[in-house]
Amino acid sequence: MDVFRIEGPVRLSGAVSINGSKNASLPIMAAAVLTAGKSVLRGVPNLSDISVFGRLLGRLGCQVTRSANGDLCIDSTVIDRPVGEYEIVRRMRAGICILGPLLARCGRAEVSMPGGCAIGDRPVNIHLKGLQELGAQIHLKNGYIVAEAPNGLTGKDIFLGGPFGSTVLGTANVLMAATLAKGRTIIESAACEPEIAHLASCLNKMGARISGIGSPRLIIEGVSQLQPVEFEVIPDRIEAGTFMVAAAITAGELKLHNCRLDDMMAIVDKLRNIGVTVETEGDGCVVARSGAIKAGDVTTQPYPGFPTDLQAQFMALLSLAEGNSVIIEKVFPDRFMHVAELNRMAANLRKEGPTVIVGGVEKLIAAPVMASDLRASAALVLAGLAAEGTTVVNRVYHIDRGYERIEERLNPVGAKISRESI
Ligand code: EPU
Repeated sequence: MDVFRIEGPVRLSGAVSINGSKNASLPIMAAAVLTAGKSVLRGVPNLSDISVFGRLLGRLGCQVTRSANGDLCIDSTVIDRPVGEYEIVRRMRAGICILGPLLARCGRAEVSMPGGCAIGDRPVNIHLKGLQELGAQIHLKNGYIVAEAPNGLTGKDIFLGGPFGSTVLGTANVLMAATLAKGRTIIESAACEPEIAHLASCLNKMGARISGIGSPRLIIEGVSQLQPVEFEVIPDRIEAGTFMVAAAITAGELKLHNCRLDDMMAIVDKLRNIGVTVETEGDGCVVARSGAIKAGDVTTQPYPGFPTDLQAQFMALLSLAEGNSVIIEKVFPDRFMHVAELNRMAANLRKEGPTVIVGGVEKLIAAPVMASDLRASAALVLAGLAAEGTTVVNRVYHIDRGYERIEERLNPVGAKISRESI
C-alpha cells in the first residue's frame, strides 16, 4: 500500500495542465454501450476508476483499449452478458450508470446494488424510479437490481428530484435509457452539472435528440438507434478547483491550463471572497494569494452551487483563515470523514450535524493521517503542503482514484511529496 510523505510548508509556483474529467468520462463510457460499434474518447484521464469501469465494460463483452496517443477506444459491437458485477460495482459506485444503457440496448440488465460508501448513504431509488417510469420492471435478486423491458422502453414525463435536489448519475441513467425509448421523455429536476450537459452533447453526437441541455428540464425524443462517436472529454473542474486551493493554501501562484472557468463560477466567487485572485488567462487562469485568507461560509449544493466534491479541500483552506467560517453540506450530509484527520493536524473544526464550524488557526502542524475517500484525501494532501513538518497520508489509493499521480503534478511546481510503498 502506498503512502505520501509531504514536507511542508511550501509555496507553489508554476504551471499545471488540468486533465480530462473523471466524472464526465464515466457516464460517456457507459453511453458507448448504447451503440454497436467503436467509439473513440479523447482526454479520458488515466485513473484507477477509469480502468475499473473499463473492466466492467469488458465483462459485458466490449473491447476496451488505450491507443498509443492515449485515446480510449470502446468497441461495443457485442454485448453478450448485460451484468454489472458486485466485484466491480462495490469498488466503484459509478458502475450503477451502466444500468440505463444496458436496459435500453439489451431489454434486460442486472447490476449489483451499490453498497455503503465513506461519504454516507448513497441510495439509487431515484435511478430506479426513473427507469420504472419508462416502463422497466425492476426487482432485487441476491443483491442485484434486475431490470427488464423486453418490449422496449416508452417515453414519459418524469420528475426526478429527490430530498437533496437533483441526482447526477440518476439523471445520466434515465437520460441514456430515454434516448432509445419510444416517444418523448421529459426529465424535470434533471441535474445541471457540466458533466451531464457534456453527456447529453455526446449522446446528440451519437444521433440522440435531446434539448434543454444544461437546464433542469431535459426533453428527449426517442430514436431507434445511436451511432458510435469520436468525442473529447471536458477538463476536470474538481481537479482544477483542487489545484486552485493548492495555490491559495500555500500563498503561491499557479497558472492552470485547460481549465473552463465558466463551469466554476461558484468556486471562483468563493475564492475571490476570501482573498484569492483568479484571473482568466489563455486557455485557463492564474490563481494567486499574497495577503491573509479571509473567513468565508460555504454551502454545498447541486450545480451551479458550490460542489460537494470541493468541500473538504475548502475546509483545509479555511482552517488557515483569519476568523471563523461555517461549512454546510447539503448534498451528502455525512461527508465529513476528513474533519477528525484535519483536527489531528491542529485545525480547529467542530461538527454539528451537516455543519462544520471552522475556527481559523495560524498554522497547521504535520501528523500521520488516514485518507478515507477521494476528496477527503485531497484535502489532507493540501493541508500537508501548508503544514509545518512531515505529513504522512496513508491509503493513497483513494486519491489515485481521481487524481493522476498528483505528486508528479505538484512536485514540479514546488511541492515535496514522495510516494512510498509500505
Ligand atoms: N440520492 C438519492 N437517491 C438516489 C440518488 C441520489 O437520495 O437515487 C441523493 C444522494 O444520497 C445525495 C444526492 O442525492 O444526497 C446527490 O447524489 P448524486 O446522485 O447526485 O450523486 P452521484 O451521482 O452518485 C456524482 C459524482 C460524485 C459527486 C456527486 C454530487 C460521479 C461518478 N460521481 O455522484 O462524485 O459527489 O455526483 O455532485 O459523477 C467524487 O468524484 O469524488 C464523487 C463522489
